[in-house]
Amino acid sequence: MTLLRVDGISKSFQGLRAVDEVSFEVAEGSILGVIGPNGAGKTTIFNLIAGALRPDSGRVHLAGREITGHTPHQVTAAGMTRTFQLMRPFYSMTVLENVTIAVLAGGGAKRTARTAAAELIDRVGLGRWRDAPTEGLPTAALKRLELARAVASKPRVLLLDEVLAGLVPAERAPVMELLEQLRTDDGVTLVFVEHIMAAVMRLSDSVLVLDLGRVLTTGAPEEVTRDPRVIEAYLGEDPHAHA
Ligand SMILES: Nc1ncnc2c1ncn2[C@@H]1O[C@H](COP(=O)(O)OP(=O)(O)OP(=O)(O)O)[C@@H](O)[C@H]1O
Ligand SMILES: [Mg+2]
Repeated sequence: MTLLRVDGISKSFQGLRAVDEVSFEVAEGSILGVIGPNGAGKTTIFNLIAGALRPDSGRVHLAGREITGHTPHQVTAAGMTRTFQLMRPFYSMTVLENVTIAVLAGGGAKRTARTAAAELIDRVGLGRWRDAPTEGLPTAALKRLELARAVASKPRVLLLDEVLAGLVPAERAPVMELLEQLRTDDGVTLVFVEHIMAAVMRLSDSVLVLDLGRVLTTGAPEEVTRDPRVIEAYLGEDPHAHA
C-alpha cells in the first residue's frame, strides 16, 4: 500500500526553482533513500511535505488523505515526523527531558514516559549523555538526540535528513541498526536523505536521485548507482565525498 504520495510538487525561491515537479511514492513499511548533490532540493522537499513550507504547486497525500499545505503540527498529528539537518532541541533541558517530552507528545503514558525515553536514549547510543544539559553537546550527540526525539513521537512515516552526518563509522552502526529495527519491528516507513553511500546501499529498498530540483531517476540501489547519469551528476564528483 502506498503510504506517502507526492505528486508534482514545486517550489521557487526568488526565481530559483529549488524543487521542480517532483513526484514519488513510498510503500508502507519500506525505506526510500534520497540522494543528490548539495543544493539538489532534498531538504526543501522535506520542508514541503512536512509542512514547514507550502508548495507552489503539487499535492501530498499521507495514507490516502491530502496533507498539502498542512502545518507541521497537523502533519505530525497525521503520522509523519521529520528530523532537521540542523537540529533544534530545547537547549535549557537535559537529553532525558527532551526525549521524555517527545514521548509524551507521541501519546506515551506519563507513568512510563521517562523509562521509554531512557531506553530510546540508550538505543541511539546517547546513554552517557542522558542527564547532561543539551546545551554544549557535541554535534554528533545532538544528531542522535534529534533522531531519538523523532522516533519517540511514534510516527508512521519518519523523514530523516542526514542523521548519520558527523558520526564516525563506529557511531553510525548502531544508528543504522536502529533504523532497520524501526522498519522491521515497528513497521515504520522511512524516507532518508543521506550522502553516505554505504548507508544508502544497505538500508534502501529504493533510491530517489535528485539533481537541480528534479528527479533524475529512481530505482533499486544497485540499479541507480550504476546509472551513468547518476555517476556524472553525483557519485563521480569526488570519490571520497560519500564514504
Ligand atoms: N528558504 C530558502 N530561501 C532561499 N533559497 C533556499 C531556501 N531553502 C533552500 N534554498 C535553495 O534551494 C536550493 C535547494 O536547497 P536544499 O537545502 O533543499 O538542498 P539539499 O539538496 O538539501 O542540499 P544539501 O545536500 O547541501 O543539504 C538551494 O539552491 C538553496 O540555496
Ligand atoms: Mg539538505
